[in-house]
Amino acid sequence: MPSTIDKSAARVRRMFGEIAWRYDLLNRLLSMGIDRRWRRRTVQLVPPAEGGPVLDICTGTGDLALAYWRLGGGKTQVVGADFCRPMLAIGSRKCRHAGTEGHIGLVEADALCLPFAAGQFEIVAVAFGLRNQSDTDRGLREMVRVCRPGGRVAVLEFSMPQGRLLGTLYGWYFHRVLPRLGEALARNRQAAYNYLPASVDRFPRHEALAERMRRAGLDRVRYHLFTFGIATLYVGVK
Ligand SMILES: C[S@@+](CC[C@H](N)C(=O)[O-])C[C@H]1O[C@@H](n2cnc3c(N)ncnc32)[C@H](O)[C@@H]1O
Repeated sequence: MPSTIDKSAARVRRMFGEIAWRYDLLNRLLSMGIDRRWRRRTVQLVPPAEGGPVLDICTGTGDLALAYWRLGGGKTQVVGADFCRPMLAIGSRKCRHAGTEGHIGLVEADALCLPFAAGQFEIVAVAFGLRNQSDTDRGLREMVRVCRPGGRVAVLEFSMPQGRLLGTLYGWYFHRVLPRLGEALARNRQAAYNYLPASVDRFPRHEALAERMRRAGLDRVRYHLFTFGIATLYVGVK
């Protein structure tokens, strides 16, 4: 397996731009709907105790931003930021449909250089986005910078289930079945659904990512395994 994969902004933006129209459908299909539960659990475990505001970086089609808005009964101020316009366009349609007007703002922005002042947000969250950034440590430092002192940074990311039998079965599904299904249903020139397992395999997980979050300036970093460890939520306090 090659040790690096192309995570340049141009490639990542192009990749999500090409699959945007099928992104939500494939999330539901390939995770059998569990991805929604992971985002719901994230917002329940990391709610804005002081009412927000919340920043969802790499918001894509806005599912985590919407989950935060719903958690707050439609009153929480949420900003979703992403650098891929086609993903944001779908997110914007979903927000209109949900009636979030005035409460969710979607912004085109690079997570490595956020257009926000320091200490602006009570919660800074990311779901399945940190892994796609070209510089993980810089991405974490940006999240910490825009978070207010005492606020929390939450990272939801794929990991691999623990235990031999489940690990083997899931590994077969994730490396063999998912890429074929994904590439067949969302045709693209970037091999997006081969990139997915390849990027997860190379991304730090559990204690390794928790340590990177501490180095970025977070305290009391903890992580919670979801669905036997298929996904993991990391949380730290600024
Ligand atoms: C796998 S999607 C996750 C979308 C959404 N958070 C979710 O839970 O479904 C990753 C998103 O991260 C965005 N992204 C990756 N790197 C980024 C960066 N440096 N700045 C802004 N957005 C980025 C991509 O454009 C894409 O929309």
